[in-house]
Amino acid sequence: GVAAKIAPSMLSSDFANLASEAQRMLDCGADWLHMDIMDGHFVPNLTIGAPVIESLRKHTKAYLDCHLMVTNPLDYVEPLGKAGASGFTFHVEVSRDNWGELVQRIKSKGMRPGVSLKPGTPIEEVYPLVEGENPVEMVLVMTVEPGFGGQKFMPETMDKVRALRKKYPSLDIEVDGGLGPSTIDMAASAGANCIVAGSSVFGAPDSAQVISLMRKSVEE
Ligand code: DX5
Ligand code: ZN
Repeated sequence: GVAAKIAPSMLSSDFANLASEAQRMLDCGADWLHMDIMDGHFVPNLTIGAPVIESLRKHTKAYLDCHLMVTNPLDYVEPLGKAGASGFTFHVEVSRDNWGELVQRIKSKGMRPGVSLKPGTPIEEVYPLVEGENPVEMVLVMTVEPGFGGQKFMPETMDKVRALRKKYPSLDIEVDGGLGPSTIDMAASAGANCIVAGSSVFGAPDSAQVISLMRKSVEE
């Protein structure tokens, strides 16, 4: 299979201690740090932006997996590239007309492009972005409605993961929302290899154990 990437969502961390929380997750075995960027418009919540990524970058070399829940992702490419973001995953729902330019700009700033889709968006919408001349390198299938941590995993989204995996055996397929020990097997057996988890990791008494359990499920 494709290598597992376990990406704790820093949305569930103590933002006032972001650098130490990030280091704690890496010490617990995290591969990536998932950074949820929201604009209060695409989703009804507001989190962090490029200045916080820039501050965190001064404290860690980790892969910063940025998830852009924003209406105008193009506006974020330059600032996030400068700030030191690693991955830049935008939403297909707001990029139907300009994803070609968007992907090109993301790559030119040295970031890895990804595309995400909400639970109600058909999987066919991302196929052209995976197959294009300038393809995205990851598809993030949302397993809850974007906006908040701590929501319930939607099992019906697994049909999309299965369809993607069947079509693209070596693609990075990420899932985000409601993932933890009780839902990881559904996502892993459907074919997801990049696992975002916020409340299940940060809320556990032993975060390292939750991370290693999820890794085992994906690698099985
Ligand atoms: C939701 C975010 C997620 C969120 C996941 O809009 O994209 O990354 O932090 O949190 P949990 O794992 O608690 O569902
Ligand atoms: Zn996310």
